[in-house]
Amino acid sequence: MTPEKLMELAREAMTHAYVPYSGYKVGAALLCADGTVYQGCNIENASYTPTVCAERSAFFKAVYDGHRDFKAIAVCGGKDGVITGAFPPCGVCRQVMREFCDDDFLVYMIGAGDSYEVYPLSEILPHSFKASEHMQ
Ligand code: THU
Repeated sequence: MTPEKLMELAREAMTHAYVPYSGYKVGAALLCADGTVYQGCNIENASYTPTVCAERSAFFKAVYDGHRDFKAIAVCGGKDGVITGAFPPCGVCRQVMREFCDDDFLVYMIGAGDSYEVYPLSEILPHSFKASEHMQ
């Protein structure tokens, strides 16, 4: 699985978004250690707070299916599905990544056209709270 293919799957996932309130579509493609890819989209709610982000919907599908080891995630988003800049996952989603992923887990933030930025989780969630380190 190339980064380009993973990012293509994130762009496709964005088309599944259910966003009647914000109109802001987000898509994610999560690469498991065994090569399986899970796609996710944001799913909004009239009561707002039950809304789930694209990254977490991808993670929860994968975890439900028994996956616990992950390599990378690609994420994109934009108003009406138009990508204008590199998409930074929210803090809650970064904490969900932390639950299952090591420092070297890669986060591809897809930008306009073929552009993207990529960071290891350690860089976008420094000084983080991780059960295996802080709940012994
Ligand atoms: N959203 C995501 O799907 N992922 C993020 O990391 C940040 C925000 C969604 C939630 C909501 O449906 C819309 O983007 C606007 O906040």
